[in-house]
Amino acid sequence: MTTSLKLEDHVSLITGAGSGIGREIACAMAREGAKIAVCDIDMDGANETVATIQSGGPGDAKAFRMDVTSEDEVNSATDAAVEHFGRLDSLVSNAGVQIVHAIENFPVEQFRKVVDIHLTGAFLTTKAAVKHMYPAGSGSLIYMGSVHSHEASPLKSAYVSAKHGILGLARVIAKEGAKHGVRSNVICPGFVKTPLVEKQIPEQARDLGISEEEVVNKVMLGNTVDQEFTTVQDVADVAVFLAGFDSNALTGQSMLISHGWVMK
Ligand SMILES: NC(=O)c1ccc[n+]([C@@H]2O[C@H](COP(=O)([O-])OP(=O)(O)OC[C@H]3O[C@@H](n4cnc5c(N)ncnc54)[C@H](O)[C@@H]3O)[C@@H](O)[C@H]2O)c1
Repeated sequence: MTTSLKLEDHVSLITGAGSGIGREIACAMAREGAKIAVCDIDMDGANETVATIQSGGPGDAKAFRMDVTSEDEVNSATDAAVEHFGRLDSLVSNAGVQIVHAIENFPVEQFRKVVDIHLTGAFLTTKAAVKHMYPAGSGSLIYMGSVHSHEASPLKSAYVSAKHGILGLARVIAKEGAKHGVRSNVICPGFVKTPLVEKQIPEQARDLGISEEEVVNKVMLGNTVDQEFTTVQDVADVAVFLAGFDSNALTGQSMLISHGWVMK
């Protein structure tokens, strides 16, 4: 019996694919047959993702060093990925960091760093990707937003600003890209246990003056319908769906994957 793969002949470039959510999206797409440009500043992490994909198949992968805040690195890695795999069908703009402080203690260079990686990174990778997608007349742009694209939390002025900004960027590109067959959507996960979140638990406990258990049960999961973390697999399933959905019927949207934390 032959089973058809959802992303056969599909090429995806994924930023921040050396860890957490980006890695799982890369692996999930490759399990559906896609070829993945695994982009990260952490080449050890990127190479580990590539090794996992190559040992499991049926897709393929190659690691590319890319700092998403550097226009030169974004352009050269994107062009090299297209040269290597021959096409580009989707971009997953996922690289991110989290820095939390109350506004009165937030160093401006740390605010700029968060906005630069999430928002300028999404802008630069989009600009580099559409150069290949527009002439091909097709493409799927997938942005990693967050529940914090719709909600606010204390201590997260930089992250919430950047994640709200990603919604605006994605909606503009949905309008600009439509005539080129390019879709643009945002995935908005709730809390997912990755290194980015593990790091925040003690930091938030310290800054909010509560226990780590309270950070998890009240701050992170308090508004979900079932007090459960979203998983990397949940997010990856949605990314596979968006990568394979090939009409403008689904564009300019944000999809909340958050155990009902936010309903829109
Ligand atoms: N974990 C969560 O709860 C959660 C929830 C909602 C949204 N998100 C978003 O998901 C995305 C991935 O987060 P994660 O939880 O997997 O974190 P992670 O820390 O596990 O992975 C982030 C990856 O981004 C890479 N990266 C950081 N700066 C970079 C740069 N300048 N250029 C290229 N790569 C860079 C890191 O090296 C790392 O491999 C982020 O955009 C994050 O905001 C995460």
